[in-house]
Parts: sequence; C-alpha cells; structure tokens
Amino acid sequence: MTAIAWDELILPDRVHGSLYTDPAVFEAEMERIWYRTWVYVGHVSEVPRANDFVMKSIGPQPVIMTRDREGTVRLLLNRCSHRANQVCAVERGSARTFRCPYHGWTFSNDGSLLGYPFNSGYQGLEARGELGLAQVPRMETIHGFVFGSFAEEGETLLEHLGAAAEAFDRLARLSPEGEVELTAGWLKHRVRANWKMLLENETDGYHPQFVHSSIFSVAQSGIGDLYSDASIALSRDLGKGHTEADLRPEFRRRGVPLGWFGTTEERLPDYSARMRAVHGEAADSILVDGSPHVMVFPNLFIAEIQLFVIQPFAVDDTVQHVTAVQLKGAPDMNRRLLQQTIGSVGPAGLLLADDSDMYERNQRGARVRRPEWLVLRRGLHRERVEENGQRSGHVTDEVPIRGIWRHYRSLMENGA
Ligand code: FES
Ligand SMILES: [Fe+2]
Repeated sequence: MTAIAWDELILPDRVHGSLYTDPAVFEAEMERIWYRTWVYVGHVSEVPRANDFVMKSIGPQPVIMTRDREGTVRLLLNRCSHRANQVCAVERGSARTFRCPYHGWTFSNDGSLLGYPFNSGYQGLEARGELGLAQVPRMETIHGFVFGSFAEEGETLLEHLGAAAEAFDRLARLSPEGEVELTAGWLKHRVRANWKMLLENETDGYHPQFVHSSIFSVAQSGIGDLYSDASIALSRDLGKGHTEADLRPEFRRRGVPLGWFGTTEERLPDYSARMRAVHGEAADSILVDGSPHVMVFPNLFIAEIQLFVIQPFAVDDTVQHVTAVQLKGAPDMNRRLLQQTIGSVGPAGLLLADDSDMYERNQRGARVRRPEWLVLRRGLHRERVEENGQRSGHVTDEVPIRGIWRHYRSLMENGA
C-alpha cells in the first residue's frame, strides 16, 4: 500500500475529497482511529442486572457488552475462539453463557471458556484458560458511559476526553438523581455516506437554517434563531477532535428555565420541583443552560435531548444509532424527551431525515472529480483563542470542523 500524504490532503482551510471516498483512507482510519483511540460503546444502564447483555460495536467490530454474574460490566468480542463463528446472534437479552452454534463451545458471560463437547479430542483442559472470548483490551466509564479502546496502553479516558468530559457532568446534572439512563431503545439510520460527513455535521451550525427550516417552522420552537446570523451562540473546538455548538449564550440571553427544551417550568411541574429541591439556588442556571450539544470524537454525539452513535462500516456506508436521553428520577421529563425524539429523529421524524439526505448528497458530490477540495474557511478571520486555549467562533463558523481535521491529521500522521 502506498503511503497516504496526509499533509497534502489536509490543509488548514480545506480538505481533499478523497478523504471521504478512498477505501485506503478508510482502512487507515480503522487502524489509527477506531482501533486505537477511545470509542464510545454503551451505557451501564443498558445492562442493569447481572447476566444482561446487549450487542454493541467499535466501528465495524461487534462487541457484546455483558454484565457478568458478579455484576462486572465487560466488553467481549463476538468471535468464537475455536474457528471464529459468532457466538451471539441477538441484540439483547439475559444469558449466563454463550454457546457457539458451530461445535458447541460454551463461554461464560465473563468471557471464559466453560467447556466443549467430546472432551477426549483434546489433551486435557489445560488450554482452557487461554481460549476464552477476547475482550476489548481497555474499558473505562464516565457517568456510566462505557468506552473501549483496542490499544493495550495509551492515554486514559479522561485524558482522551479532555475538555469534553465536562459535557457528561452537564448532562447528568439535568437528572434530579444525577444519572442518565439509556432505556428508550435504539433506532438505526443507515446512510450511504462517509462517517466523517456525520461527524462534521453534528456541530455544523451553518446548515440548520437551510436544512431544517421545515421543522423549525412547524415546531415554532425558536431553535432556528439559535443558528441565525444574529445569534450569539458559539461554535467551539474543545481539542482532541471534540467539538461543540455552545448554545448557552443564547439561552442565557433569553433567561427562560427549560427554554432550551422549548417549554416552561409550569409545563413540567414535577421535574422542576425536584430539580429546585436538589439544586437550590443553582437550579436556575442549570435549567437555563440546558443540555450540551457536544460531539465526542469519534462517535458519540450528545445532541441535547438525544444521543447519536456513529458506526462506520465502509468508506461510504455508515449507521447512525439514535436514542432519547432519559434522566433518572424524572418520569414527566422523560415522556417528553421520548416524544420529541420520535418527532425529530424517529422513522418519520423531521430532523434526521433531512440531515441524512444531506449526508448522501455530500457523498455523491464528493465523488465528482472537480474541484477536488472541500472548503473549511468560514469564520477563519474571526476565530478566537479563549483563555483556556480553546478556539471558538460564531455558531455558524467552521471552527469545529477545522478542529476535527487538526486532530484527525495528528492521529493519522502519528499512526504509522
Ligand atoms: S467455531 Fe465455535 S465451537 Fe467451533
Ligand atoms: Fe442537521
């Protein structure tokens, strides 16, 4: 394989179209990003009881997230240690063991090999200890969000998250009990587009006024104004590829508790009362600021009231998994979170369908031979470096996209 000249394809204000279309780029990304850095896998609330399991992934790799009989959450790879058959074929369930359908080897939900049929064909069982299911080498959690890394060593999850770690705090504190639960189930949207089209779009504040004008006009929610030229919301590069549309300046200007959710405290009296009881004086600012709009590189988008998980399968084949945020101890809030999620990103939803159309049109366009480049120059002249070193700009500026590519380039160049 000829080496890819990343420095020629990724420039400060533009990137080459082949980065979205070249299968060799995709293969390199798997090795240097997806099988090296920390990737979001699942949430502990998806396996609440001992012996629960749920199918998850790290990029195209299927991962079984289990809670073993001792209560420990584990990330097992779905590949029989005998001759590679897949040991788990269902999306979720409860099982103490996984039995391979091919020759009947049986594994505990902690991954260890329990036994195999016709023992006499093997010289004793001494090899059994080495023949368990493989586990993702490293696993760490933050607020119950489980991340995995195929790198045996490297930075910790907190080092990887850097400034993005705070987004998990901000999300969790919207629960009166300080905990997020992902119990609403997942929808999958498959798009014929490169995964980076999705990654960039999640914090692109330039497109909503155009792509989402229909939902904004129907919902009359004021969301559209957040992304107008007059908005004081910010786009931000949090570093390490993590990016944000920081809508708090707009919400603070408006000063309406729960305004970020398009509602008022009167319409969610139980939730508001619990939050005020728990947080006292601080409740006002928590309820005004709302939920983060943060893209955690490379695959977890905290989209205020939803979570999106990006799963790449091929250079032009990506699945986006979507669920509603659910907050522990907030049943009235959770009902609305679910309804709004169905309305915006459900099968007949008005928001993600529009984005998905854009992803696929982007991909088709990127295959056209000229002009070869995608321009990332918007707001370059007014990009600021904040005191903490983070770059920010107007919410419609391409600060986040430039941040993503800066980090991407460093990973790809250092990954040889
Ligand atoms: S491949 Fe699983 S038991 Fe043979
Ligand atoms: Fe969008």
